[in-house]
Amino acid sequence: MNPLLSRLQPYPFERLRQLFEGVKPNPAFRPISLGIGEPRHPTPDFIKTASSFDGLAAYPATAGSPRLREAFAGWLKSRYALSVDPLTQVLPVNGSREALFAFAQTIVDPRPNPVVVCPNPFYQIYEGAALLAGAEPYYAPSDPARNFAVDWDSVPPEVWARTQLLFVCSPGNPTGAVMPLDEWQKLFALSDRYGFVIASDECYSEIYFREEPPLGGLQAAAQLGRTDFRRLVSFTSLSKRSNVPGLRSGFVAGDATLLKQFLLYRTYHGSAMSPIVQEASIAAWGDEQHVAENRVMYRRKFAEVTPMLAEVLDVRLPDAGFYLWAAVPSRNGPGPGNDAEFARDLLAQYNVTVLPGSYLARESGQGNPGAGRVRMALVAETAECVEAAQRIVQFVKSFKS
Ligand SMILES: Cc1ncc(COP(=O)(O)O)c(C=O)c1O
Repeated sequence: MNPLLSRLQPYPFERLRQLFEGVKPNPAFRPISLGIGEPRHPTPDFIKTASSFDGLAAYPATAGSPRLREAFAGWLKSRYALSVDPLTQVLPVNGSREALFAFAQTIVDPRPNPVVVCPNPFYQIYEGAALLAGAEPYYAPSDPARNFAVDWDSVPPEVWARTQLLFVCSPGNPTGAVMPLDEWQKLFALSDRYGFVIASDECYSEIYFREEPPLGGLQAAAQLGRTDFRRLVSFTSLSKRSNVPGLRSGFVAGDATLLKQFLLYRTYHGSAMSPIVQEASIAAWGDEQHVAENRVMYRRKFAEVTPMLAEVLDVRLPDAGFYLWAAVPSRNGPGPGNDAEFARDLLAQYNVTVLPGSYLARESGQGNPGAGRVRMALVAETAECVEAAQRIVQFVKSFKS
């Protein structure tokens, strides 16, 4: 057996299952889950009907069809005003999850004791990808005092010197924070100095609450004159943008030299995209109306739910994404609450599921930056999210009585 498998951590939902073992949710309430970050708005009909089963008699190319690659390049042009070469600077992937994992396997050379830097809290695939690539993950904490910006300055020079890959998540899961240009500039300077590659996970880029859409990694690079996107690859997905997590479709874009090697890896790995998925994806990338409508639904929902919860929790509207990242109070007076206990008791008393923040983060120098927080995915219809919020308000108010 591959000994690295034993270094993988249980997935947050496995830990949640264990936490909830033996808990009897209050039967007076129907269950509401704000746990899983899976879109639940309906998939647009035009995406469902865009494909036929005609192209199945041939193997698809791992690089995708020319029309698909043109669709990626066209989207990057309209969304970020970027000019990319569809032949060398984009590749289809079967959702960003597999791509983030596979990319680490392509980039990391396990021989010189490598480090992969991840934000903390983070999407757990980064950690598993790093471990199975034979690297040591290093967790850079997010700072609640700076809108959850990652404290890159806390990474010591000797760690940067061993770093081969850096995962960036903007908009962040679970914090919703969007990285501004000056932070990108800092990371590019570090990448130039130490030679590491940046994997920019942008799967929440189309769900945002400010007027200005989130800055993309490639867009930041172009604005700073790095039009070859050296040592930078962005990961973009249809799952959240178009409410198609079951389609498994996304794309990567950026440094042509890295993507050439990534294509080689993917060819052996056998991760070509099915022509059925390719056709549906071309349709989805070519339409912005459904994305704007989807955004309106999230905006309305967050505008209703956030102020309700802000009455009792330390929480505010994120820059982007579909999570609220709330600090929870303690039952026993002032000071931060225990996130796992909060989640367990909320399920028992009000039948609402939230995810303990400490399950999404790791202990680092300053403790676990997810401790005392919970993640709430506002993916269900507004009425259900409002009902969950009402129950959470009642639950927290009961602490003081
Ligand atoms: C931060 C982050 N990156 C990547 C993904 C993977 O999304 P997909 O594989 O559907 O593109 C998720 C899914 O929840 C996520 O939260």
